Amino acid sequence: MDLAPNNSRHLHLANPVMIASGTLGYDGYGRGITDEMDLARLGAVTPKTVTRQRLDGNPEPRWDPPSYRQALEDGNLIFLNSIGLANPGIDAALAELAPQWSRWGATVVMSLAGESVEQFGEMAALTQGVAGFQALELNLSCPNIHNGAIFSHSAELTAAAVGAVRANTELPVLAKLAPNVPDVTEIARAAVDAGADALTISNTIPAMRIDVETRRPVLGGITGGLSGHGLRPVSMALVYRVAQVVDVPIIGVGGIFTAEHVLEYLMAGATAVQVGSANLADPWAPFRILDALVAYLGERGITDIREIIGAAQV
Ligand SMILES: Cc1cc2nc3c(=O)[nH]c(=O)nc-3n(C[C@H](O)[C@H](O)[C@H](O)COP(=O)(O)O)c2cc1C
Repeated sequence: MDLAPNNSRHLHLANPVMIASGTLGYDGYGRGITDEMDLARLGAVTPKTVTRQRLDGNPEPRWDPPSYRQALEDGNLIFLNSIGLANPGIDAALAELAPQWSRWGATVVMSLAGESVEQFGEMAALTQGVAGFQALELNLSCPNIHNGAIFSHSAELTAAAVGAVRANTELPVLAKLAPNVPDVTEIARAAVDAGADALTISNTIPAMRIDVETRRPVLGGITGGLSGHGLRPVSMALVYRVAQVVDVPIIGVGGIFTAEHVLEYLMAGATAVQVGSANLADPWAPFRILDALVAYLGERGITDIREIIGAAQV
C-alpha cells in the first residue's frame, strides 16, 4: 500500500502495521533486536526521535511502572514514561545509526525534533542524500526555544516547522501531532497545508503519578507521557475527527495491543497504525498483531483494506 498515493512522494508500506518512535529495542533504536526478528515484514519502523544536538534525557526513574510486561500481567494499564528525548544527536544518527537501519531491509521512517523552525529545516537538509530511511516523521511535541510553545499546540508553529522541512527534503513528511490541543483539526489542516504527506496521531498525553509514601512524583522528570491502553480512546477520537477534514493518510497510534485495536483505528479513518508501548511489553507484539490482522481479513474475505478504512465514519 502507498501512504501518499496521490502524491509524487510515495511511501510504500508492505502492510499497515508500523513500529512507533522510541519503542524499538532497549534504546528506541533497535538495541537488542536480533536477526530472527525480520523488521522488513512490518509496514515500517520508526526509530527514536533525534535532535540537532545529543541529549542525555531526564533523570531516573523514566518509567512507571518499571516493567510494562509485568504491569500488563498485573492488570495495571497506566503506562507513563519520561525519557526526555535522550538521543545521540543527528550527526551521530546519520553516521552510525542510519547504516544499521539500511541492514534491516525494512521501510524506515526517521523521526526528527527541532528546537526552532530553522533547526527543523536544517535537520531535514542534513538528511539529504543519506541512505537508511525512506521518510521523515516530525515529532512536533517539543518546545520551540524562541517562545517555549510546543510546536504541535500551535497551527502557526506546526505549519512553519512542516514548511521548513518540506523545503529541504524530497522524502515523504509525516507530521506527528500532540493529543492535548483544543482543536486537533486546526493543527492537522495547518500541517497538511504546509506540505505534510501524512499525519501521525498521536504522541503521548502529559501525565504524572505521586508516591503517597514519599510524597514525591514517581517520575524523575516529574511529569511524563501517558501511553498504552489509556491513550487509545483519546487518540481514536482524534483520528476520527481529523479523518473528516484532511485527505492525506492518517497513521493511528496509541494503545494498540491487538488486531482488534488496529481495526478500530482503520475504521475510525486511519490508513496505517504504529505500535508503541506494546513493543516494550513484548517485542514480538507488532508481528503477532500483523498476523492476527491478516487472519481476520482472510477469514472475512476482505482483499482490499480500503473497504475498512473510515468504515465507522457516520
Ligand atoms: C518509552 C517511550 C519512548 C518514546 N519516545 C518517542 C520519541 O522519541 N519520539 C516520538 O515521537 N514519540 C515517542 N514516544 C511516543 C510513541 O511513539 C507513541 O506515540 C505513544 O507511545 C503512543 O503509542 P502507544 O500507546 O502504542 O505507546 C515514546 C513512547 C514511549 C512509551
